[in-house]
Amino acid sequence: MTNDKNLKTYLSKAQQEHWAIGHFNFSTAEQLKAIVEAAAELKSPVMVATSEGEAEFVGYDQAVALVKSYQQAGYAVWLNADHHKSFESAKKAIDAGYDTVLIDASRLNLDENIGTTSQVVQYAHRGLTSIMVEGELGYLRGSSEVQEKVEINPTDYTQPEQAADFVARTGVERLAVVFGNIHGIVTEVITTTPTPNGVGAPTEASGEEKLDIEHLKKITVAVPETILVLHGASGLPDEDVRAAIAAGISNVHINTELRVAYHDTLHAELEKEPNQTTPYKFLASSQDAMKELVKKKLKLFGSVDKI
Ligand code: G3H
Ligand code: ZN
Repeated sequence: MTNDKNLKTYLSKAQQEHWAIGHFNFSTAEQLKAIVEAAAELKSPVMVATSEGEAEFVGYDQAVALVKSYQQAGYAVWLNADHHKSFESAKKAIDAGYDTVLIDASRLNLDENIGTTSQVVQYAHRGLTSIMVEGELGYLRGSSEVQEKVEINPTDYTQPEQAADFVARTGVERLAVVFGNIHGIVTEVITTTPTPNGVGAPTEASGEEKLDIEHLKKITVAVPETILVLHGASGLPDEDVRAAIAAGISNVHINTELRVAYHDTLHAELEKEPNQTTPYKFLASSQDAMKELVKKKLKLFGSVDKI
């Protein structure tokens, strides 16, 4: 295994060859181990990540030290600060030594989003320790959990012209885009069709999460150099994920499905062996479940045998 190529090189290769690098969140050391081992067994480069909450739980310095231990052993793994919502939290991750950061200022208006994102890019690119920065544009609904109801509204989508402007003005190298994707697994999706006056009217309820691939193609044309990132891939049908990768996505984020696999397996294990108190024994099956799921996703993303 080798780590002599950097993340940027792998992402560019993925972009050119139409496959995607998997990006998986972790909250504990054994979850990280499951992801890294799954990727290594399949010879897949992989991104691991902590959100602000996950990073506070693991510890910023500790997350960096854990991932560094794998990098020093030659694993092709990189640590991302996922959905860091302010300059201050992104700076904290950069200062701790994260390999890359997603500054997610998408809840702000466009000018404020550009302002905060640019500030992070300037900080990340200062001096000798330049790291890759991702920005986010559009309104990505939901959160990384199982939810009953989330609305999908095309007015939330990333607008192609705005994407080009955003990339030019901020200097981000990756962009999180919205084209029907939502965070989490949803049991009921409400699809809203915008009326001519711009006000959405709920038209359809279904259990299906569905990507708008034609819209993604317009974004790809508008920002051909930028690495496009699919967030919220949990709960999407495999064929949608494949179609998104074929249409220009080079990086796919999964969190909820891993959380569910870990939680459900652990829950079953504790029910089966209620008197087992040794963590490395009662956590082994949930770690395995995560590992198997990561492998399945890496095969879906086409990143096997790329190292
Ligand atoms: O940034 C994290 C991902 O977008 C996770 O989304 O929980 O729907 O898999 P997900
Ligand atoms: Zn996300």
